[in-house]
Amino acid sequence: MCGITAYCGNGEALPFLMQGLAKLEYRGYDSAGVTVLNNVLTTVKCKGRLKNLEEKLKDHDMTGHVGIGHTRWATHGIPSNLNSHPHTNPSNTISIVHNGIIENYRELKDILLEKGYSFQSETDSEVVVMCLDYFYEGDLLEAVKKTLNCIDGSYALCIVSTEHPDEVVVAKKASPLVIGRTEDASVAASDIPALLAYTKDVYFLDDLEMAVLKKDSITFYNKDGKEITKEMTTIPYDMEAAQKNGFDTYMLKEINEQPHVIQETLRGRIFEHSIVLDELKDVDFNKFNKVYYVACGTAYHAGLCGASILERATRLPVLTQVASEFRYNDPIIDEKTLCIFVSQSGETADTLAALKLANEKGCTTIAVTNVLGSTISREAQHTLYTCAGPEIAVASTKAYTTQLVLLTLIALYIADKRGDTVDTDLMEQLNNLPEYVSKLIDDEAIFENYAKTLKDKHDCYFIGRSLDYASVLEGALKLKEVSYVHADAYIAGELKHGPIALIEPGTVVIAVATQPHVAAKTISNIQETIARGAEVILFTVEGQEVSGVENIYYLPNINPLLQSVLVAIPLQLIAYHTACIKGCDVDKPRNLAKSVTVE
Ligand code: F6R
Repeated sequence: MCGITAYCGNGEALPFLMQGLAKLEYRGYDSAGVTVLNNVLTTVKCKGRLKNLEEKLKDHDMTGHVGIGHTRWATHGIPSNLNSHPHTNPSNTISIVHNGIIENYRELKDILLEKGYSFQSETDSEVVVMCLDYFYEGDLLEAVKKTLNCIDGSYALCIVSTEHPDEVVVAKKASPLVIGRTEDASVAASDIPALLAYTKDVYFLDDLEMAVLKKDSITFYNKDGKEITKEMTTIPYDMEAAQKNGFDTYMLKEINEQPHVIQETLRGRIFEHSIVLDELKDVDFNKFNKVYYVACGTAYHAGLCGASILERATRLPVLTQVASEFRYNDPIIDEKTLCIFVSQSGETADTLAALKLANEKGCTTIAVTNVLGSTISREAQHTLYTCAGPEIAVASTKAYTTQLVLLTLIALYIADKRGDTVDTDLMEQLNNLPEYVSKLIDDEAIFENYAKTLKDKHDCYFIGRSLDYASVLEGALKLKEVSYVHADAYIAGELKHGPIALIEPGTVVIAVATQPHVAAKTISNIQETIARGAEVILFTVEGQEVSGVENIYYLPNINPLLQSVLVAIPLQLIAYHTACIKGCDVDKPRNLAKSVTVE
């Protein structure tokens, strides 16, 4: 999982490559490098963040109109200068950057070693440049084609060669790659924000396709090297949307964007007491006897909520499974199964593999994603977009709440199409969410205060029941990933079966009790933790009777099925402020990357 950039134009390549890598650092940040072509290939790369590369570049002349760049998240080979990309061939005439995993690299490496090649790095990627060197006989595209035929695995590749000084060749399979056209250059990158300062006019390569980028043209090819045409897409958001906009961090900016992006996600989808989801108009929802929600991480937590709402509305059996389990568990699915895949990035390897399996088994597949043109959107039979805009902070916030909103709309839509009674109150209250979310964000200082109680703690336990359990799972994930406070979420009713042994004087317990049918039960469980010395922070709804809890925050008493959206805000802000107080890098937590394109 890495970020790559490429430039071929009239201007200088380096500024484009570097600004693009800065936008892609969320994809990995353990090393970075660039190659610029100017008669010869000059490659500069090093371990660590982009700023280390910037420092190193000061000692080099990097002028040139053609170049490629890379920011790495290590998969094969530790983060080191040698394992950093770009990788070059022995005669330094070809240079490549790669995002993905070459699964058969050991086999290829053995063959190349036998042919006399020696390797500088421990990476899988280096075999690509050696294969190119081996196959190159004057036609770079042909060498790329032959190399790709030997490779198993995933790749987005950008390739430059001194023998072809006016072009960059790019190719992709199962890793993202976007190509853009400016007035006087052709550019490419792993993700749209890296292009936006230069252009909004982009092309999405499909798997096994290649392209040749020149300063005044882009030519596309299929896997056989036959020229093909591709349609241009104009990206509807601009640079500002991908910048911090005055906030200290992307995470805080994205938390604050939630009223707006929830509104955007609802826009045009509720009309005169019915849900309008044209993307699903061809689906016969009466044929299903089972529904699966499949996703990873935060998106899985959104799936748990969506599943619960759909099951209540339709009384269909609905299951939610983590994608990395689903794909290997031989799930009982067939043409009567509806599978809904949720993924912010649309590039998560496990979710894509699960989707592929569901397609093969004849299921109807729906993708819920945030990224236009992402792989999931192209592989699912039907796609609906959350309208969260680019989410840059590694910890998901606005993508999660927009997923909750869209999954609620989908549940209501399916219920309606199946002739079930639709909860009109829920439909009407969806429209009020932006206002409620906005008011919660106004209470940030209260949540910052709660965060102060966590700053010196090693552990924090979250408890809830029913839909609140999905919310606390997400609250615990957010806290641990950005603040490194160990956090676990438990079903409140399960405490007495084991976890209560962990409670001792001073343990922080964050409880969520917003579901009227079980709120009193959760509140009893809270008392059990208080009796053992826990410091409790409780989120419940206005009107709920509570006694003996010191820190209570009352959420507005709206439809219980929408409370997951509301309580997400304080839980995000508690995680955020705990991380800030502890001096953590909230936007780029250690060991994590935004888009998990490896298994
Ligand atoms: C946590 C987080 C991750 C992602 C997960 C799936 O804040 O962001 O848990 O939710 O890696 O990613 P997507 O939604 O892109 O498939």
